[in-house]
Amino acid sequence: MKDFIYHAPTEVVFGKESEEKVARLVKKYGGSKVLVHYGGGSAKRSGLLDKICGLLQEGGLEIVLLGGVVPNPRLSLVHKGIELCRKEKVDFILSVGGGSVIDSAKAISYGIPYQGDVWDFYLGKADPACCLPMGCVLTIPAAGSEMSDSSVITNEDGDVKIGYSNQMSRQKFAIMNPVRTFTLPPYQTAAGVTDMMMHTMERYFSHDDDMTLTDAVAEALLRTMKDCVYDVLKDPEDYRARAQIMWGGSIAHNDLTGCGLSGDWATHQLEHELSGMFDATHGAGLAAIWPSWARYVMHENISRFVRFAVNVMDVPNDFTDPEGTALKGIEAMERFYRSIGMPVNIPELIGRDITDAEIEEMVRKCSKDYTVTQGQFKVLQPADMAAIYKMAAKS
Ligand code: NZQ
Ligand code: ZN
Repeated sequence: MKDFIYHAPTEVVFGKESEEKVARLVKKYGGSKVLVHYGGGSAKRSGLLDKICGLLQEGGLEIVLLGGVVPNPRLSLVHKGIELCRKEKVDFILSVGGGSVIDSAKAISYGIPYQGDVWDFYLGKADPACCLPMGCVLTIPAAGSEMSDSSVITNEDGDVKIGYSNQMSRQKFAIMNPVRTFTLPPYQTAAGVTDMMMHTMERYFSHDDDMTLTDAVAEALLRTMKDCVYDVLKDPEDYRARAQIMWGGSIAHNDLTGCGLSGDWATHQLEHELSGMFDATHGAGLAAIWPSWARYVMHENISRFVRFAVNVMDVPNDFTDPEGTALKGIEAMERFYRSIGMPVNIPELIGRDITDAEIEEMVRKCSKDYTVTQGQFKVLQPADMAAIYKMAAKS
């Protein structure tokens, strides 16, 4: 097992009445004037936003509202949020929404005390010296941003989607009420489960050995998510299954399943170009890429893919044919994606064929103008990225 530091400082407040504690939590972490940040309307329609605002005001807190965050959150709204918070002298940011809202809040929070453009952090030109404290009321389990140190922002100028990670962006608290996820449409539910499973798989596909406990946690998480997504697609108000999924999304990306190993993350990097260019749903984009990535890299460590096939996908182990077993695991994953309404290639994701020029543009962005590689399980050169995109381009 590799040496590691595990740092998951977010106070998780989980359960049916959890949002009742919002004002106390904001005050506990030093807030007095709060930016309430939210998305395109689901929180307003469900009444959650009004409830949260009411609770904050009853608790003696001042509020400033900023909605309009879209999936694949945009830099322009981040700039607007920074200006608003400076003008209003906001001292705490509360997100009511999913990964997109929380990521937008993280960027706003970095940008408020910074003299330059917040995009500098995402370009790797600078690191923030400090940021505003943040908390969230999670409404969709998926990205794991409620416990992660990452934020992914899309700059509309060039459709570039880039992630930036910094420990200081960990949420002070995350309020998670599974009941609030009952209203999620099936596609968002499935894309969310696909994303959290991929956060686990990006770590699981590693060459590090001696990870007995970490592997067992990862496999239990993957199996549980796989079972529970069917339950909630059948009955969106199945509290037990919604609750497993909500907690699963957090532990899939709070680094617990990465202790003692180095993660891969190539599928994520390849996908970010898809959602940056086509505004695709992140989780669906991952499903469109992973089978091609898996077939392309499996020979780097067949036994890892065999283990995945047997322990996660319930494929019988054919000891005489490890490659066949590994392939059956990938095929079983494709069947799973299809069964929950996810695409398994790029045409299914974007509704048309992708051109060679578009593939080349994604390779250029993913390799940062042909200067960086991606992944660890197999280190991907730009030519490998192109090969995977081309495999995924076939319907
Ligand atoms: O905008 P509203 O109207 O709220 O609708 C949202 C949005 O359309 C809807 N929704 C959310 N909660 C709902 C609901 N609809 C009905 N009922 C509810 N309770 O769901 C849609 C998707 O929301 P979004 O926040 O975009 O989803 P998600 O949490 O999947 O976030 C995706 C973003 O996170 C990034 C992705 O790249 C993508 O930009 N990621 C962030 C990570 C991180 N910060 O650690 C890691 C991930 O790998 C990922 O890259
Ligand atoms: Zn993800």
